[in-house]
Amino acid sequence: MIMESKVVFIGAGNMAEAIVSGMVAANFCAPEKIIMTDVRPERLAELEAEYGVSTSTDNSVVKNAEIVLLAVKPQVMADVLKGFAPVLRKETLVISIAAGIPTVKIEALLGGNRRVVRVMPNTPALVGQGASALAAGANADEADLEVAEAILGCVGLTGRVEENEIDAVTALSGSGPAYVFYLLEGMLAAADKMGLDKETARKLALKTVEGAARLMEDSGEAADVLRAKVTSKGGTTEAAIRSMDEAGVKEAIIQALLAAQKRSVELSNAEIFSTAKIA
Ligand SMILES: NC(=O)c1ccc[n+]([C@@H]2O[C@H](COP(=O)([O-])OP(=O)(O)OC[C@H]3O[C@@H](n4cnc5c(N)ncnc54)[C@H](OP(=O)(O)O)[C@@H]3O)[C@@H](O)[C@H]2O)c1
Repeated sequence: MIMESKVVFIGAGNMAEAIVSGMVAANFCAPEKIIMTDVRPERLAELEAEYGVSTSTDNSVVKNAEIVLLAVKPQVMADVLKGFAPVLRKETLVISIAAGIPTVKIEALLGGNRRVVRVMPNTPALVGQGASALAAGANADEADLEVAEAILGCVGLTGRVEENEIDAVTALSGSGPAYVFYLLEGMLAAADKMGLDKETARKLALKTVEGAARLMEDSGEAADVLRAKVTSKGGTTEAAIRSMDEAGVKEAIIQALLAAQKRSVELSNAEIFSTAKIA
């Protein structure tokens, strides 16, 4: 057992299940010390049976928590936080995986002066292959970051960033899996046009993405160096890359990530989470 803390998950959706599943598999703590809350009793019954965790439909179970992990959708966060703020102990560490909600807003909704760590995970966490960026709020310390790293580390890689970098991380790794799926959509549409069997094409394309990522990781080489290595003059890869260059694909990708970052900033500033509205 890594820890004996009582960890309460607020919201028992997809991401919460992924993290809990990883924590149970890693023997992070006794499963019954993990308490999951949700508005859907049938969902909680399912998770209780699957992982041996404790559950409740009442968010006030946070009163005995050492760690609270916020995993509800951003739209309901303000109401959820205001709901349990009166019973939350000052020393409880709050970890939020909600997109677009700054720690300062979470602190304000909880009555101020709280230890908050903000995390931007991504959906490969669902299969234990996530990439999570963690940022400490003003009152969170090194030990708090380590606890958050230990939890998110159960579902993949973790890295620390400053909170003002979270919007960039959201654009890079948060939304990132969708860019890879988009690339795969294109590759598989082409495979179809070329008459390849769907299942075979799917397997080959998936292994290509996975293998390319592994090659880049293991070799430590830059993407453009690896690309140059597989691009012989007058060859097939060169024909493909030339076609992409002519279509401005790389610049479009850069602009796409900048658009995602901009949207992340807009959402963080949205009125729904504003501290003015909390008062
Ligand atoms: N970067 C990423 O790729 C990424 C990916 C996923 C998630 N996230 C973040 O992770 C969070 C969770 O996302 P998710 O996909 O796991 O969402 P989800 O599946 O919708 O899970 C949220 C759960 O919370 C429940 N809920 C609603 N109101 C509640 C309340 N008052 N008290 C307790 N539970 C309540 C929901 O029930 P109902 O369905 O009945 O409303 C649902 O079961 C979000 O904030 C999201 O921004 C980030």
